[in-house]
Amino acid sequence: MFSHPKFMLIFQVSKLLLQATLIISSLTQIQCLNFSYSSFSPADANDFVRLNSSIINNVIQISPVTADASGRILYKEPLKLWDKLKGTKSSFTSTFVINIKPQTSPGGEGSAFILTDSTTLPSNSAGQWLGIVNVSTINRQDIVAVEFDTRKSDSEDLDDNHVGVDVQNIYSIKQESLASHGANLSSSEDITARIQYDAKSDKISVFVSLTSEQNMGNPVLSAELDLSEHLPQDVFVGFSGSTGEYVQVNAVKSWDFISFETRVKGSVNLVWLWILIPFIVVILLGGFAYLLYRRYKNRMKENDNDELEIEKEIQRSSSAPQKFRLKELKAATGNFNGNNKLGSGGFGTVYKGILRKDEFVAVKRILKNTRHGKQDFIAEVTSISNLHHKNLVKLLGWCYESNELLLVYEFMPNGSLDKFIFTNTSPNDTIIPTLTWETRHNIICGVARALDYLHNCCEKRVIHRDIKASNIMLDSEFNARLGDFGLARTIQLNEKTHHSTKGIAGTPGYMAPECFHTGKATVETDIYAFGVLILEVVCGRKPGHQTEENNYNCSIVEWVWEHHRMGTITDVVDFRLDKDFDKDQAQCILVLGLACCHPNPFERPSMRIALQVLTGEVAAPTVPIEKPAFMWPAMAPIAVIREDMDSSISGGQLTATMDLSGR
Ligand SMILES: *[C@@H]1O[C@H](CO)[C@@H](O)[C@H](O)[C@H]1NC(C)=O
Ligand SMILES: *[C@@H]1O[C@H](CO)[C@@H](O)[C@H](O)[C@H]1NC(C)=O
Repeated sequence: MFSHPKFMLIFQVSKLLLQATLIISSLTQIQCLNFSYSSFSPADANDFVRLNSSIINNVIQISPVTADASGRILYKEPLKLWDKLKGTKSSFTSTFVINIKPQTSPGGEGSAFILTDSTTLPSNSAGQWLGIVNVSTINRQDIVAVEFDTRKSDSEDLDDNHVGVDVQNIYSIKQESLASHGANLSSSEDITARIQYDAKSDKISVFVSLTSEQNMGNPVLSAELDLSEHLPQDVFVGFSGSTGEYVQVNAVKSWDFISFETRVKGSVNLVWLWILIPFIVVILLGGFAYLLYRRYKNRMKENDNDELEIEKEIQRSSSAPQKFRLKELKAATGNFNGNNKLGSGGFGTVYKGILRKDEFVAVKRILKNTRHGKQDFIAEVTSISNLHHKNLVKLLGWCYESNELLLVYEFMPNGSLDKFIFTNTSPNDTIIPTLTWETRHNIICGVARALDYLHNCCEKRVIHRDIKASNIMLDSEFNARLGDFGLARTIQLNEKTHHSTKGIAGTPGYMAPECFHTGKATVETDIYAFGVLILEVVCGRKPGHQTEENNYNCSIVEWVWEHHRMGTITDVVDFRLDKDFDKDQAQCILVLGLACCHPNPFERPSMRIALQVLTGEVAAPTVPIEKPAFMWPAMAPIAVIREDMDSSISGGQLTATMDLSGR
């Protein structure tokens, strides 16, 4: 199931996101500037931006050893001092050994450890300016310096042997004489100095040691200073130095620089966001995939549940038909082989099947694209299984498996009525015998009994909705068996074959005219269809013909009525009978057929009356000489009181008309 394309896609997207996350987070990881020089070789010169400075004798000579000179040297890679986006600042420790050799007496002027974004040396920065600024760039240049001043140039300087922290200026914000710390900058001795910046506490500290860097002790100077307020995010680190009237060698013999990023308190670390957002997205996608998977699983399960539920519901009904396995029915019908096809109706295709005991059955395979849903299937199986009448096709069993809905009926060896009454429609070359008058009469009576049963005798009134010759099956003795009954009310089949008005099931030619107004199947519409069936069985012809799509001309009613008007009604009887029929009986049945096809539904006899007419208990109803015009809304004749009226025509205009008529 994980090879499903949807899941593959989600998987691929998640993978890409994860990769992107890793790449982004690696990119945003702070590039901490770290380097270490225990001495400087000429080859190291490429690592530095040298401005009037040089590497000589394994040391950095910050400024030229001439009068009134200044110089700078900067490490070529900048330090990410702070990062607003990520909310980080860098702490660093810069440890170096300086050696200042006076060339005059005294020497001058001094050197400094600097942080700046500028890679140029300001002109005229010699002498007291120590290469840090010049007279015009004071407070304009982004530079912070820790000076090692060997000359008291003005009154602001403590003495000629001090360290100080300078911000954009040469006047220190804080300074400390080294005399009390036992150090003499001008002594030509190696002095180890360490500048430590703690970004968390915004503190810069200066340590000085004459012996070794392990022996730093307490800082000689500490100052509160937030470098990010005075310097841009990227700065270069290095040294500056100068000489003036007096000259000295400003040398750096070794240099270690270590920096590391520090999260600034209170600010959101955006690195985490970079990692978290894709992580959340991946989780959401994963959840989505999981839901899809669950839905897929549930759908599979639902089918099983459906089956169980349906089974329960069917078993609840009194006379439960047998449940068949799909396997059995597949085997019985040769896997629904076309050769076993008995016919196809609105609801599906019917196949002939042979069960184990050489028992023939008719298997109706319900079309999957009909609206014959689960509910309809239950309705059909339960309602059919409660109906028992010798003129109804018996339901033997059912099957609902793997979305297949199947109904198993008893097999009718003589097939459906239509192939016997419609002469020229035999598809195979078998000669179809003409049904005798007695057989025809018997068939009509059988259908009438079945319909009377459905309408009046069973627990719940059943309206057939689709009475037609092809739904009348014939058993081995040519007894009529009504099939396709109890079919779901809601089924609407493909609109072409079925109706011109939305919502009614039925077959053109058999549909009562009011159907097109009410869109409802009623007892009266069943009776109309029965009337048409009588006429076609007696006449041996189809009820009419399709003149164009959605316009079915039910001419058989007109034709018979015309003969009724002319008094030649028995002329319509099937010529194949060779006049071998009971003329009075034929006349009676034909008039009954016309009465059932009365355009006014209120004038049609009930099935009970129709059955009594057929059995000779009651005379045929009188039928007007001329076929009455169809009127809508139909008027109930005041004199006629029919016991089945109230429950048959339901709702709408018909009921209203009935109330007006005084009932
Ligand atoms: C100070 O330095 C800047 C930058 O190098 C320069 O443009 C300016 O002329 C200098 N000022 C003086 C007074 O030399
Ligand atoms: C520092 O050393 C220099 C050179 O040896 C010397 O001239 C100077 O007096 C010393 N300063 C102090 C305060 O000892």
